[in-house]
Amino acid sequence: MTAPAQLFAHLSQPARLLGTAGLTLAIGILWVGCGLQDQPGADSKWEWALPPGFPTPKVPEDNPMSAAKVELGRFLFYDRKLSFNEGQSCASCHRQELGFSDGLPLSFGTTGVMLPRNSMGLANVAYQSTLTWANPNLKTLEDQIVIPMFGEEPVEMGITGHEEEVLGRFQGDAEYVERFAAAFPDEDDPITFGNIIKALASFCRTMISGNSPYDKWSYQGDEGAMSLSAKRGLNLFFSEQLECFHCHGGFNFALSTTYEGINDEPFAFQNTGLYNVDGEGSYPVGATGLYEFTGEPGDMGKFRTMSLRNVTVTAPYLHDGTAATLDDMLDIYAAGGRIVEGGANAGDGTANPHKSGFVSGFVLTDQQRIDVMAFLESLTDETFLSDPSLSDPFVTSGSN
Ligand code: HEC
Ligand code: HEC
Repeated sequence: MTAPAQLFAHLSQPARLLGTAGLTLAIGILWVGCGLQDQPGADSKWEWALPPGFPTPKVPEDNPMSAAKVELGRFLFYDRKLSFNEGQSCASCHRQELGFSDGLPLSFGTTGVMLPRNSMGLANVAYQSTLTWANPNLKTLEDQIVIPMFGEEPVEMGITGHEEEVLGRFQGDAEYVERFAAAFPDEDDPITFGNIIKALASFCRTMISGNSPYDKWSYQGDEGAMSLSAKRGLNLFFSEQLECFHCHGGFNFALSTTYEGINDEPFAFQNTGLYNVDGEGSYPVGATGLYEFTGEPGDMGKFRTMSLRNVTVTAPYLHDGTAATLDDMLDIYAAGGRIVEGGANAGDGTANPHKSGFVSGFVLTDQQRIDVMAFLESLTDETFLSDPSLSDPFVTSGSN
């Protein structure tokens, strides 16, 4: 199966696969080097501590990065005061040890109402060209973060109608008054929702995961970092037999990757044959993917290709959390989609007419399955999952 060249032009197969470690490393250094010089609008004091091989994230001109803003964002991210009833923080649904996912099939908002989607991990979210599972119009973290804070259908943090009360909690807290002043030094009255969103977005941009065994092997020259089994799994992942790499490609193992210097818009949305409720390719009501936003029949069931970084800790999987394990995920791809046996969503997803040609099924030996799993495990970055600069400041400072 071949793809239109431009669709996947920005994706690179790891050079290590071809045995040119030096090249990969050189490109990595070049990327990092270039990036530091031409960050638009970035605070001159801000320096990205990017892992080797990682390009510079795009940053909106009106929200340059700064250490004070990132630190404020970290406090806000972990603070339950941000939800109207002080029941939830961002971290309630985005837990660091789970790659900033929440371990549930579907998340619950602060009033206990169930959300229609699975909470995805936030590793490398700075590189996403679009945010959330299927919305093509949410292109910046600043735009996305409004939703959990103010969304009413469903309520997540439920601030709408409680704006003054929520803001008052921060205005009346001497430590926050200082942190906001440091983060927004040119403003007389910096404690605003606009600035809360800017700080949260800046913090989320620093959630960069690039120190997994795969990274150590691929970009840092550490031959022993990946087991032989994981290396065999990598070759399978990048083979025309499994086809995974066509969608989960590049340094972030995703289709939706953007960064400084990239101008084309990656097309991230794919139908992987999970449902076929009417025999004509329909997905369940309320979970139709890109179709919900475009109304184009061909967009039925298309969801964003998720990054596979830290995927071993972000279970359960898929937009609706209906795959419990990575084994279940491999079963789906091996079958060329999913047959849902009973219930309201019954149907043969493998025969979904909108399904990508890359999801056509394959047979794996037991050893090959073990190898693919070992490769996926090699994308788990323990440093990231316990990085103190991303962790709950209230636990370490003991102030909450
Ligand atoms: C009630 C649970 C919940 C809370 C609270 C919550 N989120 Fe989320 N978050 C989710 C879910 C579910 C999604 C996927 C939404 C979708 O696709 O429709 C998501 C998506 C995101 C994304 C998009 C990630 C991507 O790869 O596209 C970001 C960024 C994010 N959340 C940050 C935050 C921040 C910052 C806060 C606090 C202001 C927050 N979230 C609060 C559940 C939650
Ligand atoms: C046609 C593009 C495509 C191909 C090929 C593909 N994937 Fe995916 N993958 C996706 C999309 C899209 C999703 C999200 C689907 C959804 O939730 O509806 C996904 C989700 C996943 C997830 C769950 C991620 C999460 O956080 O929930 C895993 C794991 C995964 N893919 C692994 C693989 C592996 C392994 C292969 C090769 C056997 C593969 N994928 C091939 C597009 C693809």
